[in-house]
This record gives sequence, structure tokens and C-alpha cells, in this order.
Amino acid sequence: MAAAVSSEVEIKEVEEQLVTPWEVEAKDGGKIDYNKLIKDFGCQKVEPEMVARVEKLTGKPAHPFLRRGVFFAHREFDKILDAFEKGDKFYLYTGRGPSSESLHLGHLVPFMFTKYLQDAFKVPLVIQLTDDEKFLWKNIKLEETRRLARENAKDIIACGFDINRTFIFSDFDYVGGEFYRNMVRIGKCVTLNQVKSIFGFVNEDHIGKVMFPPVQAAPSFPTSFPQIFGDEKKSKKIRCLIPCAIDQDPYFRMTRDVAPRIGFQKPALIEALFFPALQGESGKMSASNPNSAIYVTDTPKQIKLKVNKYAFSGGRDTAEEQRQFGANIEVDVSIKYLSFFENDDEELERIKQEYKTGKLLTGEVKKLLIDVLTKMVEGHRQARAAVTEEMVDAFMAVRPLPGMFD
Ligand code: TRP
Repeated sequence: MAAAVSSEVEIKEVEEQLVTPWEVEAKDGGKIDYNKLIKDFGCQKVEPEMVARVEKLTGKPAHPFLRRGVFFAHREFDKILDAFEKGDKFYLYTGRGPSSESLHLGHLVPFMFTKYLQDAFKVPLVIQLTDDEKFLWKNIKLEETRRLARENAKDIIACGFDINRTFIFSDFDYVGGEFYRNMVRIGKCVTLNQVKSIFGFVNEDHIGKVMFPPVQAAPSFPTSFPQIFGDEKKSKKIRCLIPCAIDQDPYFRMTRDVAPRIGFQKPALIEALFFPALQGESGKMSASNPNSAIYVTDTPKQIKLKVNKYAFSGGRDTAEEQRQFGANIEVDVSIKYLSFFENDDEELERIKQEYKTGKLLTGEVKKLLIDVLTKMVEGHRQARAAVTEEMVDAFMAVRPLPGMFD
């Protein structure tokens, strides 16, 4: 069967900046142009009215990531809100490719936000661990990716997900049954030409890569989880909302294109900025350079050292000049990190103002950041230490989730 090429899938990668699920590169080492990305990908901007509507519908203040534009783009998030308002159901889907032993702060961002969404909307959540993807793309032994998936599951559980509403699965263990049937339905709708253009695959790539996109697409459809959502008749109406970093958009552009052709609703998306490397904002943090990121396993000493030594500063060269001219907070990484993780809006504003006008010096701002990060990492460390093997088994058990919408 020839698959029709629709406009949503046809969008080509941009010349100047490169954003795929595997590579993020800004133009000439500059900043990612997010407005251009929204335009090229064809998603929508999250507007302030939308944030206000979320607050109204959930009766809770919006998460700082939403208020501050960290989750800045969406596809049909408004439809999810319409559905919720009418009392229709939706579920959340997110994931993690287990390529490293421990997560860095950038990895936590989508999970922290997903936890907020789960609590605010009281909805079920499926979390995919793509051990297969990492085996296919990285030089890691298959058994090792399975071990990493389980280790990463502990960090994910430590974010505080509600076990009564959350199913975590590894592809190597879970794929089969209805999930596999959906994969094959999806695969039949996408041509080789399309995946080459969406993901940048070339003829020399192995076919393992070509077969993978349906694996990441399938959790967007509720019938892939019959144990949770029941039989097809009941579950087909349930919508899916995917919180993710915007580099995952290509997978879901493909998924959204296929969905109506195989009788499903298109999954909605809410998409985040990349979390910048300590060295500055030209791409996302890379797991391959340990000094470019703060890890959840870093000690207070390591956090202090990394921030002081590597966090790119928008401050002036001397204290004198800084007092006189103030800092360029647009490029300052400490300010960027604080705008992710300093939860107090007024405190954040105060820091920005005083740094910009030269009242605060870089060292002082870095100290404030070190305090925030140390607390956060310490909190995570304790939460993770409390996660037992039994808890991992419980989250990953194939099971119904009774009361998941209550
Ligand atoms: N491909 C993602 C990664 O490498 C993992 C992933 C799978 C994911 N499904 C997802 C991420 C859904 C966000 C949403 O990290």
C-alpha cells in the first residue's frame, strides 16, 4: 500500500540549525532559534491565556516551567484542555532512552513537569524506557541497556510519580500483543522516503533504525495498553498528551500523521526548550561530556566546582566593571538554571534585576545557584535511595490501574 505524504510529515530539516532526536546544533555555535523551530516544525506557541486556562481548570497554580515558558510549544494542547473541561479522559505518555547510568538535570525537566501534570489533572501515565533505541543507536551491549533501563527507572520513580496511576515499561520486555499490532499498523503507513526525510536516515544506516519509529509511536495509542485502558471500544476515545523536549517532535509528527489513517486520535504534545549546557546555550547538555552537566549523583563539592568553574557568565571581567555596567543576563547560564529551578518568582526577579544592574556579582549569583542545585540534588538522592527493587517491579508490572482517573 502506498502511503500518502501529508503536509505534517513533509517538513524538511532546516539548513542552519539542526534538531533531530539525536543531534542538536545551533547555527554557528549561537543560540537555538526557538521561534524558527516552531515555524519549521509546525507547532504552536504556548500563550499566556493557555497558562491561565490550565490554572482555572486544575484549580492550581501553573508549574514554573509553564509560567516561565520552559514548556513553550504545543500541538493541540488546547484540545486536551477542551476534552478535560467536558469531562473526557486523557492520559500522559513520556519516556527516556537509557543511555547513561545516571540522569543529569536536563533529563529531570520533562519528568518533573509530567509529575505536575499527573497531579494537577489526576490522570494515568505511561513511561517508555527505550532500551532498544539505545542499543540501536549507541555502542552499548543489549544486556547493558536493559540494566540501565532499570537503573533509570529508579531515578524516574524518585521524581514522585503516583504508583496507582503510573506504568513504566521497557521496550525489550513489554513490546508484543496489542502494542506490536499497533506498531505494524503504523509501519505500514510510513514509507522509507518519509522516514529518511523526517529523521535524516541515509541508505547506509542499518534497518534497525528504520524499524524503530513505530516503537516510539505506539504508546501514543491507548489500545497499546489493554490492561490499563480496557478493550478497543472503550479505550479508543481516550486522548494522549505527550510532554517532551522538542527534539522528540519528529517522532510525533510522524505519529500524528498516521493516527487518523488507522482510526486513532492524534496525540497532543507539550514541548520544552533544551536544558543548556554549563558552557552555554548552543545545544542541549550532552551525556558524553561530564563537565557540561550537573548529574543527580554529583556531590555538593562537585556541584560547587562545576558551577564555579564552567557555568558561562554574562557578568563583566572585573567586579568594578560589573558594578558599573551590570551583567548580560540573556547569555548567563546561572540565570538560565535559576529560571528553571528557583521556584520563587519574586526571588528570581530580584536576582535578575540586581545582577543586570551590577548590584550582584557573578560569584554571588553562582552561590545562589549552587544552593538551589545542592538542595535539589540532595532531595533527589534521598528519594532515589528510598526506591527499592520491589518498587521498580511494582511500577513495571503489567497491570490494570484501577481508580487512575479519580
Ligand atoms: N527517545 C527518547 C530518548 O531518547 C525516549 C522516549 C521514548 C520519549 N518515548 C518518549 C521521550 C516519549 C519523550 C516522550 O530519550
